[in-house]
Amino acid sequence: MEIRKLLRSHLLNLKPYSSARDEFKGKADVYLDANENAFGSTSKDKYRRYPDPYQNDLKNKIGEIKEINPAHIFLGNGSDEPIDLLIRAFCNPGKDKIITAPPTYGMYEVSANINDVEIIEVPLKVDFTLDLPNLIDAIEPEAKIIFLCSPNNPTGNSIDKENILEILNKFHGLVILDEAYIDFSSKPSLIHELKNYSNLVILHTFSKAWGLAALRLGMAFADIEIVRILNMIKPPYNINGATQSLVQKALQNQDKMKAMIHEISLQKKYLETILPTIPTVKEVYQSDANFILIKIKNAHEIYLNLIKEKVIVRDRSRVELCEDCLRITVGTEEENKKLIMELKKIRG
Ligand SMILES: Cc1ncc(COP(=O)(O)O)c(C=O)c1O
Repeated sequence: MEIRKLLRSHLLNLKPYSSARDEFKGKADVYLDANENAFGSTSKDKYRRYPDPYQNDLKNKIGEIKEINPAHIFLGNGSDEPIDLLIRAFCNPGKDKIITAPPTYGMYEVSANINDVEIIEVPLKVDFTLDLPNLIDAIEPEAKIIFLCSPNNPTGNSIDKENILEILNKFHGLVILDEAYIDFSSKPSLIHELKNYSNLVILHTFSKAWGLAALRLGMAFADIEIVRILNMIKPPYNINGATQSLVQKALQNQDKMKAMIHEISLQKKYLETILPTIPTVKEVYQSDANFILIKIKNAHEIYLNLIKEKVIVRDRSRVELCEDCLRITVGTEEENKKLIMELKKIRG
């Protein structure tokens, strides 16, 4: 597929900002090109210079871990940044559309609304699986992007690979597959399908399995042309220097990340075992992620009661298909026990 044909036409000849670090790339003794303060405020060598605008060292390391050529990686200020940039690059405001399958992650809708891009919603079926025939039917010439989330937030289930491949084969726009929670799932990522589909964009993040949500680092894996377009329209230094060096450090210790995933899976089993024994809990949905959706009697009131006890869960009870549902993130042993203790106290 020719990605350039999907791009908003005014971007075809965009001249991007050229930073001082774009124009001189080698190593020098004296840097007087970027109007920085050479004295620095903290440790002199650390933060006084602008960071690498293309985060090359970080991408090389991520490429090794994800088994992907770094040229296929775009890094964003959280995965929320590529979500917005992709809509901005490919959807003409007031004309083009995106397709979503709610209930799903809220930022697809928010970013589309900010950009004045219409949303075609094809709700999931009651069992939270994709309504594939309706989704295919919903495709129209103005639809430029389909957002899929697997494992899906807030339902926790994954989308069948066959369904995703069918959409990729039938849709001539971009398919953005948000795999923010993939490291918690036993099902494999579709990252290796990138070589077969130039219209596939896969999103991963350091906010979940890596435990680094505050650093704001998201990854988009995509065709080289899509990465080039995102680099062209992003703010020049979108990933700050502290994030680049702290994530680089975390990446040296993959075992720690794997140990956290293991601990979270044990804690999730504890919650999955004990939640159904609580009388107010009507259903505990299967989850491939680090959270569990439950249906509970008087969900909103229970949510408010939990807040009084300083336990915060996510109230999804007003979301279509999630009536009377709360989304519970798997926490530490202590946090989970406190949640269960408080839930047991509340009479429905
Ligand atoms: C499905 C999904 N995608 C993306 C994000 C945002 O991730 P980031 O912190 O990388 O912006 C979230 C956050 O909750 C999410 O649930």
